[in-house]
Amino acid sequence: MGKALIIGAGGVAGVVVHKCCQNSEVFEEICIASRTVAKCDALKAKLDGGKTRITTAQVDASDVPELIALIKKVRPDIVINVALPYQDLTIMDACLATKVDYVDTANYEPEDTAKFEYKWQWAYRDRFKEAGITALLGSGFDPGVTGVFAAYAQKHYFDEIHSIDILDANAGDHGYPFATNFNPEINIREVTANGSYFENGKFIETEPLSIKRVYDFPQIGEKDIYLLHHEEMESLALNIKEIKKIRFWMTFGQSYLTHLKVLENVGMTSIEPIEFEGKQIVPLQFLKAVLPDPASLGPRTKGKTNIGCIFQGIKDGKPRTYYVYNVCDHQECYKEVGSQAISYTTGVPAMIGASMVMTGKWKRPGVFNIEEFDPDPFMDALNKFGLPWHENFTPALID
Ligand SMILES: NC(=O)c1ccc[n+]([C@@H]2O[C@H](COP(=O)([O-])OP(=O)(O)OC[C@H]3O[C@@H](n4cnc5c(N)ncnc54)[C@H](OP(=O)(O)O)[C@@H]3O)[C@@H](O)[C@H]2O)c1
Repeated sequence: MGKALIIGAGGVAGVVVHKCCQNSEVFEEICIASRTVAKCDALKAKLDGGKTRITTAQVDASDVPELIALIKKVRPDIVINVALPYQDLTIMDACLATKVDYVDTANYEPEDTAKFEYKWQWAYRDRFKEAGITALLGSGFDPGVTGVFAAYAQKHYFDEIHSIDILDANAGDHGYPFATNFNPEINIREVTANGSYFENGKFIETEPLSIKRVYDFPQIGEKDIYLLHHEEMESLALNIKEIKKIRFWMTFGQSYLTHLKVLENVGMTSIEPIEFEGKQIVPLQFLKAVLPDPASLGPRTKGKTNIGCIFQGIKDGKPRTYYVYNVCDHQECYKEVGSQAISYTTGVPAMIGASMVMTGKWKRPGVFNIEEFDPDPFMDALNKFGLPWHENFTPALID
């Protein structure tokens, strides 16, 4: 069918590349391009020889002219951005200049301010519409599948959804006292930021990790969950009719939280540059350099993830509750694609989102969040490509 340009060659990109190769009818050709071309070449070496033709390239994705030159050379049907959120706008600029569709998994945040919001990417709506190209924002798991779950619940089970609790549990153990499951800089910026939840038309801020509950997850068991700010709440608050409350919960183990507190207390999570031996360094970037590379956690991580959403609302005048979730096993993911489940649960939906646009099912000019499209073909593809989902109409609720 066509060709994708994949930008980034980290943990998530590795899964996207595997999954594109498993879906060679859609992805006849892929080009993997990143800052460190050796990582692209290593991915190519693993997967070359199948039906999907693979090429590689070096690119600095913060440089628009460089990106435009690469897109003109590769001539892809779509760009799959699995680099970092800092590069979202430059890649969108290059897609606009070359009239190529765009997909990502995380919304833009400026490198010097730990504040992620959709406003920067939503500002491209008219330009993408005029250019006749599609931008699909947030096609990972959360954001991503959580938005597809919301659209599915809205389409099939509710007349009105009144509340959504998004529950992200990782019961995986990598054996390190402290490591992050995806890019440490992005992960720590997210976790140390203020929490927030949406209620009655506005967002209410909370102190970082100050609201805690315990939830008994299917196939995982009881875990501490903490309220976080998360980007899909911003779009779901606009796109789900009659919504009154949205909360996002994530599990953290005690060792992770204790290490994080110490690192914060000594200033290692700061993004303010400091002078060190005559050079400016950002403490969090230095910390990233000494922490384990998330892409290396695959062989060590054992256990499962469980990510899903609990919806409450009404159908035919009666109250209804609906829980839909996926359980993913770290070791099974490693066996299949050589990655742990966090990269897997992000990379599979990134490939599926790109295939939705490439096959025309979700091709619409403009900039869209994932819940704005018909969820049914995406839900089918989740079952087909390794992220099957389960439903429960009488789940335990969170107070
Ligand atoms: N929605 C979700 O559920 C979800 C979950 C997890 C992660 N994510 C997102 O997925 C994305 C990838 O995460 P990851 O864990 O795969 O990160 P990662 O392992 O750190 O990989 C990032 C890749 O981007 C490349 N890169 C960084 N800056 C670049 C630049 N200026 N030009 C070209 N390439 C550049 C890096 O190149 P080098 O190798 O040279 O450093 C690396 O290959 C992030 O945006 C993250 O926020 C989304």
